Amino acid sequence: MSSTWGRNIKISIFGQSHSAAVGIVIDGFPAGFKVDMKALADFMRRRSPGRNRLSTSRRESDEIEFVSGLVGDTLCGVPLCALIKNIDVRPGDYTELYDLPRPGHADYTAAVKFGGHQDASGGGHFSGRLTAPLCVAGGICIQILAARKIYIASHIEKIAGISDKRFDPVTLSANDFMNLTHEPLTVIDPEAGARMVKEIEAARADGDSVGGVVECAVIGLPAGAGSPMFEGMENKISSLVFGIPAVKGIEFGSGFDCANLRGSENNDPFIISEDGLVRTKTNNHGGILGGITTGMPLIFRVAIKPTPSIAKPQQTVSLSERRPKELRITGRHDPCIVPRALPAIEAAAALAVCDSLLTNN
Ligand SMILES: Cc1cc2nc3c(=O)[nH]c(=O)nc-3n(C[C@H](O)[C@H](O)[C@H](O)COP(=O)(O)O)c2cc1C
Repeated sequence: MSSTWGRNIKISIFGQSHSAAVGIVIDGFPAGFKVDMKALADFMRRRSPGRNRLSTSRRESDEIEFVSGLVGDTLCGVPLCALIKNIDVRPGDYTELYDLPRPGHADYTAAVKFGGHQDASGGGHFSGRLTAPLCVAGGICIQILAARKIYIASHIEKIAGISDKRFDPVTLSANDFMNLTHEPLTVIDPEAGARMVKEIEAARADGDSVGGVVECAVIGLPAGAGSPMFEGMENKISSLVFGIPAVKGIEFGSGFDCANLRGSENNDPFIISEDGLVRTKTNNHGGILGGITTGMPLIFRVAIKPTPSIAKPQQTVSLSERRPKELRITGRHDPCIVPRALPAIEAAAALAVCDSLLTNN
């Protein structure tokens, strides 16, 4: 099943954008962990739509209904099932997409794959809405990791060519996470954030959209988590991150830039820290060597494409008539997906790390 993932923590995500609900079943969470429900609701709110003028006007509270897996607020060891109801649905906005697939969206590939039986409303199972259940799992993992002093945060590194500062890959600390600005966008440099807002608003005014890059970091990770080859930490994170719609690229550490460096520049010299730990002087490797964590900050960046559904007229084809057609998309869409993708990317990182660390559950 393509919507099922995991070895030690297994998740299965279900639902469509405009079905009764979206949700998740999670198997493998440690019994006895008390979930901070307020912190989880706050985490969900960061992803939910309709929070500000930079997001779609669809309004969803993203309140979680737990069906099983908890006694009170404490994980009881059996599969946790969580539902998030879809309230603000308008399936009528999407009927023509069965015949006129949106360029850049999954309407065409879904029609081919499912023989025309796909649910195209709001993107169906391909919708960004499916990141809400991912955030339930990841939000709980973030709390499990925080109890072990492992912390995760992300910021917008770029939107429409406007760049924020990057995390310092060597000295990055929990304080740097606390110092991020969150409104209107999560960035290190608020001045860059203000310029990004202008770009998003300009794209929306043009009936268009913009994309960007999210930088995510995990700190406090011990050395030795992960495995070689196909179960490496990069593999695990990437397989979850590519489950987030609109993600088109990922790089770890110096990423694609390493191709321009000599070995002598790219290698990170080993040192012994003041507290006697093996560390590295620089961190081009992004905290992972051979698929296994080194104990340095784990850093990766994710490229997110511009929202495919734009108001500008676009060229498509009629699948039934087999001829060109012009498409004018109605419905409610984010002019930029990047701000709402941050919690989903943090959730993916937390789930991957938890899956690697919780080998006894
Ligand atoms: C949080 C979030 C919100 C999204 N909102 C929209 C949207 O409003 N309109 C849209 O066309 N695509 C939106 N997407 C992206 C599409 O779901 C995605 O581009 C599409 O399913 C095709 O998948 P692909 O881009 O990964 O190939 C959103 C994605 C995320 C993560």
